[in-house]
Amino acid sequence: MMSRVREEQMTVGDEVQRRRFLRFLLGSPLLAGLGGALEARDDDDVITAPGQALNVMDFETAARKHLPPAHFAYLATGVDDDATLRANREGFARFSLRVRRLVNVREVDMSVSLFGTSSDSPIVLAPVSSQRAFHPDAEIACAKAARAGNHLQILSTLSSTRLDEVSAARGAPLWYQLYPTDQWPVTHSLVKRAEAAGCPALVLTVDNLVNNRETLKRSLRRDPRNCAACHESDPLEVVSRLARKPLYAGLDLSGVERLIPLDVTWDYLSRLRDLWPRKLLVKGIVTREDAELALRHGVDGLVVSNHGGRTEESGRATIESLPEVVEGARGKIPVLVDGGFRRGTDIFKAIALGATAVCIGRPYVWGLAAFGQPGVEAVLDILRRELLTIMRQAGTARLAEINAAQVVDGRSR
Ligand code: FNR
Repeated sequence: MMSRVREEQMTVGDEVQRRRFLRFLLGSPLLAGLGGALEARDDDDVITAPGQALNVMDFETAARKHLPPAHFAYLATGVDDDATLRANREGFARFSLRVRRLVNVREVDMSVSLFGTSSDSPIVLAPVSSQRAFHPDAEIACAKAARAGNHLQILSTLSSTRLDEVSAARGAPLWYQLYPTDQWPVTHSLVKRAEAAGCPALVLTVDNLVNNRETLKRSLRRDPRNCAACHESDPLEVVSRLARKPLYAGLDLSGVERLIPLDVTWDYLSRLRDLWPRKLLVKGIVTREDAELALRHGVDGLVVSNHGGRTEESGRATIESLPEVVEGARGKIPVLVDGGFRRGTDIFKAIALGATAVCIGRPYVWGLAAFGQPGVEAVLDILRRELLTIMRQAGTARLAEINAAQVVDGRSR
């Protein structure tokens, strides 16, 4: 009997040891990024109010807790083995910071001007589709949070909320992200609607032709809920979902087979250039060659992006693509970047490597999923605070003072 009690005690003790060891391992930089897109954390670590968060990653675990597994997987997934998703985070480690001392950083100005409009920080809300899957207040909550912190917001064409409603909540013009579809009349109508709504910039996404989101597919199989109870169509079938998206409402979608035509080329871009009279950006550029071509085709701005690792499995981080795209743009047009930005230092590195601004995707949606508008506000506050901290520490009082002298590329040392 005694020995059985001792055995049980040892088992409990072993379990405590094992959990401690696992926590130690999970906190170790050696393991950072090695986990899958759906890696879980201990329940004890999950925040229950936005103010408890120490960093934006704290919202990820809270979002996982609040969301049905398949919805969380839709947010988390990369493609294939999620290697590009991980690369986006790991890429930041390649660059370290060279900071200056004895600079007056009492006043720090993080503001940035894009096409004549000023924002208080270079942190932009990236277009993220179907936000009602994450919270009933969806894009409205994000718009109100963006308004509170004066952030630029790019609205996805796959928004769950009408453009005029989001615009009213933001209280300032939104940038419009375009999935044109393979039917030009649909493209034409979408563009004309964005123009009539007063959007100052159109962002054409070109990187999401075809993809294999295995993490999402696997999770759909495991989610015990019946998707048909809420989704009229297959949740993986994007085109059949379009008819229910408010930005496509009233359009004749017969014949539409793709979000982006497979034969989208620079000629297509020229056609769009002729149709759209305001600022035109291309999202999804990752090479110097394409940046040069974009310049030649009258594009006004670029977003370096691999769709948050959700399209091709290139294994290459956007922070690593950024310098060559900046070179290709030759200082003539602004270059924005997204993919894996989770810390103020990540944003600082991108600005130092030539980005004008940085878009974030998943982090603000984690905030939304966990706590609605206060969650999104908290995520944006943390990122602004962290950027302010590193700007002070690096001796840079204005965004324009952050330059290539402040980063060291570990590969070229
Ligand atoms: C996206 N992204 C995206 N991009 C786009 O141009 N139109 C869209 O509708 C969407 N939808 C979307 C949904 C979800 C759930 C995610 C996670 C992402 C890509 C997005 O704009 C951005 O490029 C990435 O999210 C940036 O990477 P991080 O910040 O999520 O790592």
